Amino acid sequence: MILKKITIALLFSVSIFAQKQARIIEDFNKNWNFKLGDYPEATNASFNTSDWRTLQLPHDWSIEGAFDKDSKTKQAQGFLPAGKGWYRKVFTIPASSKNKTISIEFDGVFKNSEVFINGKSLGIRPNGYISFSYDLSPYLNYGQANTIAVKVDNDAQPNSRWYTGSGIYRNVRLVTSEKLHVRKWGTFVSTPEVSTKKSKVHLEVTIDNDNDTTREFTLVTSILDAKNKEVANKISVEKIGAKTFETKVHNLDVLKTQLWNTENPYLYKIITKIYEKSVLVDNYETPLGFRFFNFDAEKGFSLNGVPTKIYGVCLHHDNGALGAVENIHAVRRKLTLMKEMGANAIRMSHNPHSLEMMQLCDEMGFIVQDEAFDVWKKKKVTNDYHKDWDAWHKQDLEDFIKRDRNHPSVIMWSIGNEIREQFDSTGIAITRELAKIVKSLDTTRPVTSALTENVIEKNFIYQSGALDLLGFNYKHEDYKDFPTKFKGQKILASESVSALETRGHYDFPDGIKAWPTKHGAPFDGNADWTVSAYDQVKSYWGATHEENWKTIKSQDFMAGTFIWTGFDYIGEPDPYPYPARSSYFGIVDLAGLPKDVYYMYQSEWSNKTVLHILPHWNWKKEQEVEVWAYYNNADEVELFLNGKSLGKKSKQNDDLHISWRVKFEPGTLKAISRKNGKVVLEREIRTAGEASKIDLKAGKTAIKNDTYDLVYVTVSMTDKDGNLLPKAMDLINFEVTGGGKLVGVDNGYQANLDSFKANSCKLFNGKCVVIIQSNGKKENIKLKAMTTGLQASTIEVKVN
Ligand code: GAL
Repeated sequence: MILKKITIALLFSVSIFAQKQARIIEDFNKNWNFKLGDYPEATNASFNTSDWRTLQLPHDWSIEGAFDKDSKTKQAQGFLPAGKGWYRKVFTIPASSKNKTISIEFDGVFKNSEVFINGKSLGIRPNGYISFSYDLSPYLNYGQANTIAVKVDNDAQPNSRWYTGSGIYRNVRLVTSEKLHVRKWGTFVSTPEVSTKKSKVHLEVTIDNDNDTTREFTLVTSILDAKNKEVANKISVEKIGAKTFETKVHNLDVLKTQLWNTENPYLYKIITKIYEKSVLVDNYETPLGFRFFNFDAEKGFSLNGVPTKIYGVCLHHDNGALGAVENIHAVRRKLTLMKEMGANAIRMSHNPHSLEMMQLCDEMGFIVQDEAFDVWKKKKVTNDYHKDWDAWHKQDLEDFIKRDRNHPSVIMWSIGNEIREQFDSTGIAITRELAKIVKSLDTTRPVTSALTENVIEKNFIYQSGALDLLGFNYKHEDYKDFPTKFKGQKILASESVSALETRGHYDFPDGIKAWPTKHGAPFDGNADWTVSAYDQVKSYWGATHEENWKTIKSQDFMAGTFIWTGFDYIGEPDPYPYPARSSYFGIVDLAGLPKDVYYMYQSEWSNKTVLHILPHWNWKKEQEVEVWAYYNNADEVELFLNGKSLGKKSKQNDDLHISWRVKFEPGTLKAISRKNGKVVLEREIRTAGEASKIDLKAGKTAIKNDTYDLVYVTVSMTDKDGNLLPKAMDLINFEVTGGGKLVGVDNGYQANLDSFKANSCKLFNGKCVVIIQSNGKKENIKLKAMTTGLQASTIEVKVN
């Protein structure tokens, strides 16, 4: 035995570092042909695609279409088209790959995909949010051309309560490995003991042996810290039978562990290697973060022993003007905005999100509520997932857990949102079945579900007794009774608020208003489909941001809250009918421009010092205007109009803002926050004069020439002194030259029916956003913005 260990050690001292890569993971997004419609013959190699478009995935055809009042997708999905489409790609595989296992991985196809390789159907996948893969090896022509065709069928509508997009809207990869390899999602890491002195790592590795013979191999686990320095390793000699798979276990200790938390999301990684003799045959990476957490019925949530309120936001998967197209740069921008606001948690509403989203939550330090379903067996809309439930829910749930269970950011599994079965006794058995599936794959995280019914006798999901953590949506007034009603239960406000706002639009605040008292009732709103950005309009089931946050903040038993929503999303434009086509619920608008309430959260949730005043300062003479200020880290704020003090104010009791009523006169409105008499911050808004300049601000100074990287440019209309024209609605035309192409425009206006793909955009309340993507050329990007009557403006972005 000792001799064997020494031999292994010697073997690896020589070879372990020599070879780093055996598995080849290729980007398989490029050079696909696409056509809308149904083309079953496209599975044949001889099929002619000369009239098909050539494009790079990820791709969403819905976002390219026009808004149509009569669209089958209806209002909930933003009146955009759906239908059927086919993708096709011809590719070669080298003859030398004949003895390898080659599989194709799809992160998400919406929906009902069927994949064909060289005419042979590999399978169907109804669920549009699930990641899946197929082994292509048995059907490939080695050293010759191969044809892959993907049918996407999103025709049966309506099938969702929000915008889904259509097509292969997430990444696709080709993975080549030896016949002996780690199975897809084949690792499961857990950390049975975590402390800064020493932590324990338990790694299960499932290995496929696609060979016809039994294989002996060496399994090497290496844990690397954030600087890629090895901090632990384990080597074992293993055996596996022919044409089978087996799970092997490695237990390791990591000394002086750096913990993962939301401020310092320290990440390790695990490299799994398989050697046959001394040849590396596979390598596989698993993320690793050390953290422990607890939900407590009285004290709420704690992370690594530190009481931590969950400051969460719910997000849908769309990326605004990009539609459902997933792009890591778009996700990073969204999460950066949320992080800067002080959010520490994301709820993946109401379906599996992308790989990039999960990876960035690990990297950026977000607590994740990972959610599987919005419907079970009982439908919410005619053609939704209830139709696939019987055949697919088990596999979908299992695949979802297997894909995401290694992410340290994932802290809880939600098996459903506002599921209909909570209202009838069938909910009991289904909840137990789903919780059992989750527990069979992961016992380290609580199972939860977002419930609406808090009357015990009426809630059968609760009555199942299978939830570890109760999530409640809305009805914040009821929370105070929960500790007695749900004695001993751990509780979270899984969804809250649903307030409504349009960026930059201000109606004189006259108290809190709830829009229709019931669904379908007429909304006494504005003729231009705007909703005031003072935090005073809410859905009848919801709360204003302030009402909700005051409640959560003062209740220790409540683990935290997930605000509906961090960003506006396409679809669900309640309370308005067409032409409203995107939601009003976001703290940030669809274009990524914060609404004022963003700063309320920033003042409460982040450790940034905040002073923000609203509204703008272009009103009618003598008009009475209500000025609000959000601030923190100060005892008082003094407001001045044209140098004259309008008085000092400070928040009383649980106030989250202060306000003044001011008779408008043009000029400068200035706020100064002070602590112990010393100035903390100053903010000024000036009355804007005539339009003079199109101001362009790029979110990045440089992007990569990789055909994926994005730069978001904010376009604003200003006067000669740089003051924003808060009501400017001018049409701006864009021209992009050099290493980029325009891939989206948006002004965040919920009733804007212009295409997200146009080369122009109307400003809305002074602003809009242009999204430019690398086109692969290594040339600086020039964006030129033009409007009638003004000189064009240009901005340059470097391309590296
Ligand atoms: C909730 C639901 C969300 C969204 C929201 C709008 O009840 O869970 O998906 O529809 O209402 O207020």
